Amino acid sequence: MLGIGEGEERVSARPPHPGRVFKDQSKLSFDYVPDRLVHREQHLDRLNSLFRPVFEGQMSQTAMLVGSVGTGKTATTKRFCIDAKKASEGTGKAIDFVLVNCRQKNSENAVLQRLITHFDEHYPDRGFSTAEMLRSIAKHIEKRKIHLIVVLDEADILIKRGASDLIYQLSRFDEEKISPRPSLSLILISQKYVLDMLDQAAMSTFRRANAIKFERYGAAELKDIVGSRAELALFPGAIEDGSLQLIADIASEFGDARFAIELLDRAGMLAEEEGMDKVLPEHVRAAKALTYSVVTESKIEELDRQRKIVLLAICRSMKEQAFVTTGDVERTYKVVAEEYGEKARAHTQFWEYVQDLSNNGMIGTKVTGDPSGGRTTYISLPDIPAKVLRDKLETMLKG
Ligand SMILES: Nc1ncnc2c1ncn2[C@@H]1O[C@H](COP(=O)(O)OP(=O)(O)OP(=O)(O)O)[C@@H](O)[C@H]1O
Ligand SMILES: [Mg+2]
Repeated sequence: MLGIGEGEERVSARPPHPGRVFKDQSKLSFDYVPDRLVHREQHLDRLNSLFRPVFEGQMSQTAMLVGSVGTGKTATTKRFCIDAKKASEGTGKAIDFVLVNCRQKNSENAVLQRLITHFDEHYPDRGFSTAEMLRSIAKHIEKRKIHLIVVLDEADILIKRGASDLIYQLSRFDEEKISPRPSLSLILISQKYVLDMLDQAAMSTFRRANAIKFERYGAAELKDIVGSRAELALFPGAIEDGSLQLIADIASEFGDARFAIELLDRAGMLAEEEGMDKVLPEHVRAAKALTYSVVTESKIEELDRQRKIVLLAICRSMKEQAFVTTGDVERTYKVVAEEYGEKARAHTQFWEYVQDLSNNGMIGTKVTGDPSGGRTTYISLPDIPAKVLRDKLETMLKG
């Protein structure tokens, strides 16, 4: 276990008391679909308007959702399908849906099997042709008088394995039917644009598919997202704004909400392990260090003595905060330099060291204007607890 924060004495004085951060940790699990997906309202609106003719019983629809990791494709689609199903209850135009994860069901047969078992759990797992299975699905839909939305999540995996034909069949499911009622719509989800990987026939039917792009989340959006999940999962006031900001800043490198929520989850657990009732930036840094760290031991060792001292000054000024100003760090730097028998360099040279560490990815810097018209540079430690880094640097500088 990493020792975290300045608060060890405080921690030992207080008996461990688990359960002071999370009121409902399951709200951070990947299966949980929040009622509201902040910053995905437009994507939901677009899905809803694309599917309006489906809801009205006029036609079926195809859609394709594309975007990089953790941009909310699966969550948005689940929310859409759950809401559509619910809204259609009792209207005589019932909607049902099946979400197939193509990483798990990565052959045509496995996908079809999954669709049939949605209706008939005991459908035998062998010996039926694609055509027979498709007919079977059509019969179930007909019998229940529903419209089925089939979601192929991570569809690129299926397509790479040569399942274009299934996508072709599903996208023109209604064309061979006599009944005028549209019965099946298809949503493909993928991290990459995959239509050009389909064969000619599938591409020609799917070309009309409506693509919805999921952009990477920016830091401000991620802050709202983790903030909204924190409200569901944590006790009121159990995380401070600086911690949310730090999570958002870290995760914004990838624009990935999953990573952000994972950081919140881990940071919360670390805070609870320490018997604390608040998630501090130090917990976030420790959570990040547990997942992936760019500040490796070897990277620190490569720094020369002056740069190590600057980095140590940053750690000492940082304590439990999320950010420190360069002004604070420079004052600490002078003290630390003296402590290790080095001459403190002048301001311009100090500033170059800071830039250097920032270019290296060891620290983050952010410039903001202040009301008096001046500019302040804030330094953050992206992924390692200040205390852990401080201990490492002190050992290295002494040795
Ligand atoms: N706007 C949002 N508000 C709240 N939670 C969100 C939002 N977007 C994503 N999430 C959460 O982030 C996690 C990742 O989202 P999701 O699984 O939808 O990503 P994805 O785009 O499908 O990623 P992948 O391509 O890796 O499958 C989920 O736990 C989801 O609930
Ligand atoms: Mg997904």
